[in-house]
This record gives sequence, C-alpha cells and structure tokens, in this order.
Amino acid sequence: MEKYILVTGGAGYIGSHTVVSLVENGYTPILLDDFRNANRIVVDGLTQILGQQPIIVEVDVCDEKGLKEVFERFNFVGVIHFAAYKAVGESVGEPLKYYQNNLMGLINVLSNMVAFNVKNLVFSSSCTVYGEPKGIKEVTEETPKNFPSSPYGFTKWIGEQIIEDTFKAYPSLNLMNLRYFNPVGAHKSTAIGEFPIGKPNNLMPYITQTAIGKLEKLTVFGNDYPTVDGTCIRDYIHVVDLAFAHVKALSFLEKNEGCFETINIGTGKGSSVLEIINAFESETGQKLNWAFGLRREGDVTEIFANATKAKNVLGWESKLTIKDAVIDAWNWEKKLAEQNEK
Ligand code: UFG
Repeated sequence: MEKYILVTGGAGYIGSHTVVSLVENGYTPILLDDFRNANRIVVDGLTQILGQQPIIVEVDVCDEKGLKEVFERFNFVGVIHFAAYKAVGESVGEPLKYYQNNLMGLINVLSNMVAFNVKNLVFSSSCTVYGEPKGIKEVTEETPKNFPSSPYGFTKWIGEQIIEDTFKAYPSLNLMNLRYFNPVGAHKSTAIGEFPIGKPNNLMPYITQTAIGKLEKLTVFGNDYPTVDGTCIRDYIHVVDLAFAHVKALSFLEKNEGCFETINIGTGKGSSVLEIINAFESETGQKLNWAFGLRREGDVTEIFANATKAKNVLGWESKLTIKDAVIDAWNWEKKLAEQNEK
C-alpha cells in the first residue's frame, strides 16, 4: 500500500530535497505547491533524480476548499508542512502578509488533519524561536525561547504554540516541531537546489552568486562581534541531511501514538561567516570578492544546536560537512549559470 505524505511547499528548497528523501525511503510524497515562491524547473530536477515525476497538486495551502479536496483525494499517513514565506527582512515591511499566509496555512493543515483523522505532522520551525540566546550559545530544546526579531520569526513561534495547543485538545495526534538551523548546500546531482527570488538574503547563495559574477561583492555584516574572529556564528546544516531528518521524524511519529515533540536539527557545531568564506575559497578554488560592512539589524551574535535529542529520539545526526555544502552549493550555482546561457 502506498504511504502518501502530503508535502506542502514541496517545490521549495527544503521541500524538494525532502521529496527525494521520502521516495528513497519508501514513502509516496504528494507535492503541494502553488509555485508562487518556487521555480517550476524543480519539477524537471525531481523527475531526473526520481526517474518519474512526483505527484503534484497546485493548490494554495491557505485555500480551504482546495486543501480539503486534496485530503479527500488521498489517504495520507502524514503531513510535512513547509509552505510558508521565509524572508526575514521582507516580513518586517509586510507583517500581515506573513501572519496571514504562515498562520492560516498551518491552521488549514491542522483543521484538515483533525477532520480527516490524519495523525502525523512535521512542522518546519526555526532556531529563530531562541532569539539571541542568553549565556550559552549551544541551545537545547529546553533553552528558553526569546522573542524573535521579525514577524517571520514570530510566525514560527506562534506556529509552535498553535501546534502545542492543538495537541492538548487532540492528544491522539502525533505532532513534531523541527527547529532548523541554517540550511545550506544542494543535491549532489545538481538537479535541485535553492532558487533565491531576487537578491538573496542568506549567506551561502550570496557567496555563490558573487563568485559566479551575478553579484559584485559580498558584504560581511559586522566584524566586531564577541566571537573568535568578530563575525557571527551559525550552525550550517546540509539540506540533504536536513531532508532526511524529516523522514526519521515521520517514522518516529508513526511508531509513537499521541506524541508532541520539538527537536533541533543542526550539526551541533558553529561556524563563523569568515570560516564559511574560507571553506568556500579553499574547496572551490574560487576567489571571493568580499569586504566587511556594518552589522545587519536583528542578527543574532552566535547560536548553534545541541543536536543530542535528534540523535537519541530520531536516530538522526548530520553526516555531510561544510566542505560538502560549499562544493554542492557551488556546483548548483554553476549549473544554474549554464542553464541561463542556453
Ligand atoms: N551574512 C553576511 N552577509 C550576507 C548575508 C549574511 O555577512 O550577505 C551573515 C549574517 O550576518 C549572519 C550569517 O551570515 O551572520 C548567516 O546569515 P543568513 O541570512 O544566511 O542566516 P540567518 O542566520 O540570519 O537566518 C537564518 C534563516 C532564517 C531564520 C534565522 C534564525 O535564514 O530563516 O536563521 O536565526 F529566521
């Protein structure tokens, strides 16, 4: 029997890599996306990797009637809910767009899960819910949350609360928040990767686009932070490892009736911005045009995951390295450039 998993936002960066991982592990993902924030080329990439096109439903996750029809059509074993806006800066200027889309989408998903008795949900949360950690920068799931610095961050914070409250009301559901750290890299095949819309906000696509000549120069935001080299520290996790964490999460939920869990998904190691730049230059042989600039408002100084719970509860840990991530991200950028030349 097919094990159908609804993957909302399945054409996105993390979603598409998770679709691959699900198929590799015996699930049948149903990719739901309205492609407003995703590139249709991802469908060709997925087809290339999987040998056939995944099942795609073009529906807005906030569309009540549309989503209900999807739940009527498939007998889902579980849902992985990625579909959401994710640009921190944009969310400051357009908070209502973020609250509307990110919260209504989640509520629509949960309502249908309750109505159709679909038990298992994995929710894309973020380490943004820790805000700027006070004291120790290695955060466990028990580390107190701090207010995030953006409406985007609050949608994750409130999303987690919505899930917790839903679990209290419907304790037979199995719900899990995965708090991602910083996803980077691309699929080894270069068939799928990240498609930043417009100028990228995140470090890795900014590096690769600068190296390929799409952007002139990378600005490193701040060199006066109290860290090893003055630049901020993050936990960069390869997107293929992150994708597999969702498969482990689902299989855990299937085996554990009535559970609510929150789990960090990171490598457990922090890297500074300069360390990432150095890794990129030494692994790819590309010289990067970069310079120090002012601090970016809202940036956390340092945060990285304590990834022990993921290992103990899910049996998951990261395998790929920063070296893998910079090489894969660079190969993906080169592939995009080749495609654009055609
Ligand atoms: N950085 C630069 N120059 C750039 C871009 C980024 O120096 O052009 C630095 C940032 O200052 C930061 C690091 O690179 O120190 C990582 O920045 P990203 O924008 O790639 O990632 P963030 O850690 O800021 O954001 C990520 C996710 C968000 C999430 C947040 C939680 O992208 O979704 O973590 O902290 F909300």
